Amino acid sequence: MLAGKHVTLIIGGGIAAYKSLDLIRKLRRAGAHVTPVLTRAGAEFVTPLSVAALAGEQVYQDLFDLKDETEMGHIQLSRAADLLVVAPATADMMAKMAGGHADDLATTLLLATDKPVLIAPAMNLRMWDHAATRRNLAQLRADGVGVVGPDSGDMACGEFGPGRMAEPDAILDAIAAGFASGPLAGKRVLVTSGPTHEPIDPVRYIANRSSGAQGTAIATALRDLGADVVFVTGPASVAHPTGVHVVAVETARDMLQAVHDALPVDAAVMAAAVADWRVENAFTQKIKKTTQATPELMFSENPDILKTVSSHELRPKLVIGFAAETENVVANATTKRARKGCDWIVANDVSPATGIMGGAENSVHLVTAHGVEDWPRMPKTDVARQLADRIAKALT
Ligand code: CTP
Repeated sequence: MLAGKHVTLIIGGGIAAYKSLDLIRKLRRAGAHVTPVLTRAGAEFVTPLSVAALAGEQVYQDLFDLKDETEMGHIQLSRAADLLVVAPATADMMAKMAGGHADDLATTLLLATDKPVLIAPAMNLRMWDHAATRRNLAQLRADGVGVVGPDSGDMACGEFGPGRMAEPDAILDAIAAGFASGPLAGKRVLVTSGPTHEPIDPVRYIANRSSGAQGTAIATALRDLGADVVFVTGPASVAHPTGVHVVAVETARDMLQAVHDALPVDAAVMAAAVADWRVENAFTQKIKKTTQATPELMFSENPDILKTVSSHELRPKLVIGFAAETENVVANATTKRARKGCDWIVANDVSPATGIMGGAENSVHLVTAHGVEDWPRMPKTDVARQLADRIAKALT
């Protein structure tokens, strides 16, 4: 998919810049040509020599470098690529991009380009959470900029949380998805999947039997049709799909936040089996039977993610919910569609006798504004492919 593609890689100033060296190697191994651009701050973290050696091409650094202007002007440089990637994209770079600044070579290329742009943000978690960065991110997404990551984890500054640059493999996947062809190419689709875990104490939680198999199959089928897929998953027992942007969460509230961060999207498929309640009085230490009486758990209702997305100011064009029912499947699903405000409901009977929850097959009813379709029992991968085809028809 990447063979022969030209990628301009802008390396910003962050400790994650070292990962961009690996990204260059991986892009070239996949057959892409990499034109590296190093910002002044980026050059504090990686040397032009190592970037040029790995890219096998000259590094562009300065807007006013006349030699570069005679060989390749900055306008030409901004258009010669098939895709511009900014990795790492610092908070400052995102702010400049969102504001349309052009005060160095990198920002000038980004403003002058007519090609798609993908950013891999990397920054301290407080900077990532700051209202200004949130605003800039929303603006960049609205401007059509693709975003991969950031991941959560230990940070160079000693803190833990979201802000780490996505791994080179994930960036490579996002780049490949950007070049994908198919009816959903250029469309961004959110899929939620798996169960959520609601903590009782640090070692115990409340969960459900969802394996994540149906959501994973849907994400894969959408990817195969060329969609750029954001896959928000609870702790599922099946492996994550490849070639999609995975956001792993634990609780319903984490999932809501991740879904919120993923908007805007063209379509949302909410296949997750979200816990309806969480433990309000979760214990901060392990509950000990030797020193404590039998615990009494108090529950409070979790946010309804599907309902929130259906009435969101950034509501996707197509919102699809699932209905896990054990009786009156179609009737319950029909009222659920109205109650949640979504466009379609994929209803299934999850009574233990059906073997659907945790199994490899599914038997679904598609409830839309036009009525109910009963699909025959088939492998979850086939349900996913049929649903992805329907989504492609609805979006194009
Ligand atoms: N859902 C959600 N957030 C919740 C609960 C459910 O987004 N807190 C979504 C699921 O992902 C699914 C749909 O809502 O797409 C229906 O989930 P289901 O568990 O069948 O319905 P409930 O909302 O739990 O309603 P009920 O208790 O009546 O079955």
